[in-house]
Amino acid sequence: MTAVAARAPAKVNVRLGVGPLRSDGFHELRTVFLAVSLFDTVTVRPGEGLALTVTGEGADARRGADLVPTDRRNLVWRAAELLANTAGVPADAEIDIAKSIPAAAGLAGGSADAAAALVALDALWGTRAGREDLVALAARLGSDVPFSLVGGVALGAGRGEHLTPVLARTRWHWVLGIAGEGLSTPAVYGELDRLRQAGRVPSGNELPASDPVVAALRSGPTSVLAGTLANDLQAPALALRPELARALRAATDAGAAAALVSGSGPTVAALAEDEDDAVRLAAELAGAGVFRTVRAVHGPVPGARLVG
Ligand code: C5P
Repeated sequence: MTAVAARAPAKVNVRLGVGPLRSDGFHELRTVFLAVSLFDTVTVRPGEGLALTVTGEGADARRGADLVPTDRRNLVWRAAELLANTAGVPADAEIDIAKSIPAAAGLAGGSADAAAALVALDALWGTRAGREDLVALAARLGSDVPFSLVGGVALGAGRGEHLTPVLARTRWHWVLGIAGEGLSTPAVYGELDRLRQAGRVPSGNELPASDPVVAALRSGPTSVLAGTLANDLQAPALALRPELARALRAATDAGAAAALVSGSGPTVAALAEDEDDAVRLAAELAGAGVFRTVRAVHGPVPGARLVG
């Protein structure tokens, strides 16, 4: 076998309810994940030991070196070691990550890379891990990695790794606005804890029900889905990055049905009426001068898959 490639999607948390800080340093979540059509591709080849290269978004040596490392700090490296150890095969592979998903953007780009690597290396090494085995390995790598494998629409509980897939066939169109430098996920969760201690945002002791979001994702209309979008990490992301308020306003001013911060940010996810509206909205937001990159996407899309 010469080369195997797999790709995995970015995600938006259409709803993200964050509970109190647990004793293990994570927060209990109730979330609704939606996989969207922005993909990273991981290509693996036979090699000796592990070697990692990164191309595309965030691979810029100046800005991206810390965002997308090419050593053990990269989740892909750890995914490769974990799969090799579990399967009892040597961790030998040349791995290339072609990135379209911006790093540290709240879009689970690193998790997508890890999920794609698990799928590609499973094929390269012939480890024949079942889908469920891969999901279990994914959960050990990071909270969002299982969803990057599964894709589509899913309810997430625990720290995000306990998934219940949801059948929702309606295609939703979004514009992702990537604003400024990346935000650190632990820093955003930490800011939420501080805001809660100061009584500036609700405690999170009562996690919201996800049912209205799921019903709206299944059948719409857009205005109803727009009314259910919510993210508990939005307030701390705004506290750390005040100019995000302008970015959110730019999206609604441009006619988005709703706009929210994706995950821990700083990406803004703007809900469009349909595909044409998303193209129009993307063009308008690209000209607004508040985003570094603007992408029109749709979801749900499948999770990590072999390509080519
Ligand atoms: O699981 P992952 O490595 O993506 O998590 C990164 C960090 O985000 C954790 O170390 C933790 O600080 C925070 N986090 C959290 N609660 C979650 C998920 C992540 O506090 N449910």
